[in-house]
Amino acid sequence: MRNTLPEASTHRHGGSPHRPRTHNSQMGRMTRGWILLSAFILAASGTAASNACTSKDVGTCSQCLNASPLCAWCAQENFGQGGTSVPRCDLKENLLKAGCSAASVEFTPSKVELIEDRPLSSRSYGSDRETTQIRPQKLRLTLRQGDPQNFQVSVRQVADYPVDLYYLMDLSYSMKDDLINLYNLGNDLASSMGQKTSNLRMGFGAFVDKTLSPYMFMFPPEAVENPCYGISTTCMKQFGYKNVLSLTDQVTRFTEEVGKQKISRNRDSPEGGFDAIVQAVVCKDVIGWRPDASHLLVFTTDAKTHIALDGRLAGIVKPNDGQCHLDASSNYDMSTTLDYPSLAQITDKLSENNINLIFAVTKDIEELYFNYSMLIPGTAVGRLSSDSNNIISLISDAYAKIRSKVELEVLGVPPELVLSVNATCLNGQVVNGVKSCSGLKIGDTVSFSFEAQFQSCPKEKVQTFTVKPVGFKDALNVTVEFACTCACGANAQPASPDCSLGNGTKECGVCLCDAGRLGPQCECSEADYKPSDEDTCKAGPDSPVCSGRGVCICGQCSCRNNNFGKVWGTHCQCDDYSCIRFKGKLCSGHGVCSCGVCQCDPDWSGENCNCSRRTDTCMSSLGLCSGRGQCVCGTCECTQPGAHGATCETCPTCPDQCTIKKDCVECKYYKRGPLYETKKVEESCAQVCRDDVELVDEIIHREQNAVNCTYKDENDCVQLFQYHEEATGRTVLYLIKDGVCPEGPNIGVVLASVTGAILLLGLAALLIWKLLVTIHDRREYAKFEEERAKAKWDAGNNPLYKGATTTFTNVTYRGAS
Ligand SMILES: *[C@@H]1O[C@H](CO)[C@@H](O)[C@H](O)[C@H]1NC(C)=O
Ligand SMILES: *[C@@H]1O[C@H](CO)[C@@H](O)[C@H](O)[C@H]1NC(C)=O
Ligand SMILES: *[C@@H]1O[C@H](CO)[C@@H](O)[C@H](O)[C@H]1NC(C)=O
Ligand SMILES: *[C@@H]1O[C@H](CO)[C@@H](O)[C@H](O)[C@H]1NC(C)=O
Ligand SMILES: *[C@@H]1O[C@H](CO)[C@@H](O)[C@H](O)[C@H]1NC(C)=O
Ligand SMILES: *[C@@H]1O[C@H](CO)[C@@H](O)[C@H](O)[C@H]1NC(C)=O
Repeated sequence: MRNTLPEASTHRHGGSPHRPRTHNSQMGRMTRGWILLSAFILAASGTAASNACTSKDVGTCSQCLNASPLCAWCAQENFGQGGTSVPRCDLKENLLKAGCSAASVEFTPSKVELIEDRPLSSRSYGSDRETTQIRPQKLRLTLRQGDPQNFQVSVRQVADYPVDLYYLMDLSYSMKDDLINLYNLGNDLASSMGQKTSNLRMGFGAFVDKTLSPYMFMFPPEAVENPCYGISTTCMKQFGYKNVLSLTDQVTRFTEEVGKQKISRNRDSPEGGFDAIVQAVVCKDVIGWRPDASHLLVFTTDAKTHIALDGRLAGIVKPNDGQCHLDASSNYDMSTTLDYPSLAQITDKLSENNINLIFAVTKDIEELYFNYSMLIPGTAVGRLSSDSNNIISLISDAYAKIRSKVELEVLGVPPELVLSVNATCLNGQVVNGVKSCSGLKIGDTVSFSFEAQFQSCPKEKVQTFTVKPVGFKDALNVTVEFACTCACGANAQPASPDCSLGNGTKECGVCLCDAGRLGPQCECSEADYKPSDEDTCKAGPDSPVCSGRGVCICGQCSCRNNNFGKVWGTHCQCDDYSCIRFKGKLCSGHGVCSCGVCQCDPDWSGENCNCSRRTDTCMSSLGLCSGRGQCVCGTCECTQPGAHGATCETCPTCPDQCTIKKDCVECKYYKRGPLYETKKVEESCAQVCRDDVELVDEIIHREQNAVNCTYKDENDCVQLFQYHEEATGRTVLYLIKDGVCPEGPNIGVVLASVTGAILLLGLAALLIWKLLVTIHDRREYAKFEEERAKAKWDAGNNPLYKGATTTFTNVTYRGAS
């Protein structure tokens, strides 16, 4: 049970009946509302990041700081008392805008501060002056959760850096000839190293193995004193590790001491060299490692080595403690008590003491030691000839190899901190995810870029870690401040009277309730709370508690507001932001959202209040939508083909102005015509014709927006008017009074003329007929006269006389013959 609660508005009195509203069964409108809302969130994703502060379940100052790197908290006592939905956790500027005083704003930005940043040295200054091989030397990171910060580290190996060389030699029997050679080569080794540095110290140590069976000969008893008992020579007494010569700049003493050494002997093949390494590394004072020097530990052997847990062979179960255990005569006195060290221990100790290990080993075991060196940073491997006569070149090569590589190690990183590194090696070439550069010359500078971040808050607010190149003394100390908690937490007021009479702690402006108390003001006791109370916080048996938008406190929902607005209702089912949006505005900006429904302002209607009830915006000089469309939600929807414009006023293909204005003249002046007689208000004369009619005697010329029109009215009078739109928008119809009407016809004249015409036509026809008859008669008479003249009667030949006999011929008679 939580005893802190987020800043919330509590709706205790669900007076209005509420609809069940769950995530599974939202009403269609609500769903649409949500979709619109999500679309809005997506569209406004630029501001979405800033909402991380307010939209998360943030109840305390530290929760706020960890919500997002941009979040700030207002710890002011009386902040947001007036408006319930003012969140305490928000962007800093929003808090200031909301009236939080700057002093009360808790906001720690991430940053990187350089505390110590000395430039890199170009050479070693010896003991006169500090040599700097890493830059910066100290920095402080302030980190907010999830806000990565970067810093750069540069490293340069300076020239002529002092060198400490400690020679650690296997003195088992097989190394007999090697010891003789080292004695002969000692001076050459010193002079060879002397070329690399003017400041060289050398030391010598030897090891065999633990002086226990089965590692050593324990029988016969003489063999303990002289392990070579039984073979002709005498050997040195058995020993684990001893420091023969501490580091010294009198290099002649090196050969001297080597010359005094005698070989020893052990029984099994692997040796106890790792014991020796740890002692040589950790016994700084005995060995004499200088802080400001390169430390080389040369480990020579021709055999394998015992490692951790091999001690069990001799019954040693105590792990190596990594401490220095040299007795007064510089002998390792815990050799028979402690186990061999592990590789990890060796790595740790080498790193802690900035020592570079060189394995100088013979060919047959080279691979094994190479494998070891892969696990131990800062080590090098060289092949030793069987008699060690190549030891000088081996050491100088290994030294060169070590010096040609810069490898960073990061020590003591808090587990919560995530570091990533990119190296910028030679020629500015960037290698991602790598902490080392190789192939360098002395004096080359390389840099590394680090990115630090954390995802969860550690217990310790301030922690430190170290970045250092392997084998270097120089290091960068980084202090990390995890900005997880608020400064105002220091002023927390336990048992505050503001938190239900001392039932909680007032911290950073909010109540943190004592155990057993709940609610924003700890007003509710856990004892009063019954699990069945949860049911009253649900709209239905399967609905989430408080619609998933609040918490159930003692049977009542405490709804969480978010950055969109208030959430309310007995089950937090209502909010004032999931109404339909139009053009990004809730209820188109013409209404208020109430529990998902837009309540529109008087002049507006529609689901999202985007529909204006006004019609004046549809009105043009030609009437409502110029008579060519409908007024829908305050804008014209033109229905006449070709009509467009805000009021459909433009329409090249529509009937011209004269046709429309004709009806206006008719209704306005003559009180007749279709507009006068119509019953429909929107087609009425007053509605459609907003023109003034002026009677004139004659139409005069008006240059623009004037149209001369004529039409014939129902009385056949020709009406002549001029339609003129003035610059002011007023339109005038200049009408010539009564038009030009036709005169009535004269019936007498018509009759007379018709009769006259008929008579005239008849007379003409008679005359023509008379004429034609006369002509015909004349012709006939002339013909008769001519005939009569031609008829000269023959006296003896009466044409009318015929003879008295008639002859017939019988055609069928064939004659007598
Ligand atoms: C060294 O490591 C390699 C690769 O891990 C392995 O194959 C090889 O056997 C190892 N050699 C020895 C001697 O352990
Ligand atoms: C390393 O480089 C990668 C790719 O160039 C980049 O994304 C990353 O941020 C860098 N990391 C650091 C610590 O600079
Ligand atoms: C760096 O940190 C280490 C370990 O905390 C400390 O021993 C050392 O003195 C510090 N060095 C500097 C220069 O502060
Ligand atoms: C807690 O609150 C109750 C009533 O709200 C009050 O009677 C009681 O004294 C308070 N407890 C403490 C420890 O002040
Ligand atoms: C009003 O909103 C609805 C739904 O978003 C939309 O379809 C309609 O075109 C809008 N009306 C006006 C006049 O903007
Ligand atoms: C209208 O008629 C008048 C008078 O006849 C004339 O002066 C004027 O130019 C005419 N206007 C148009 C636009 O034809």
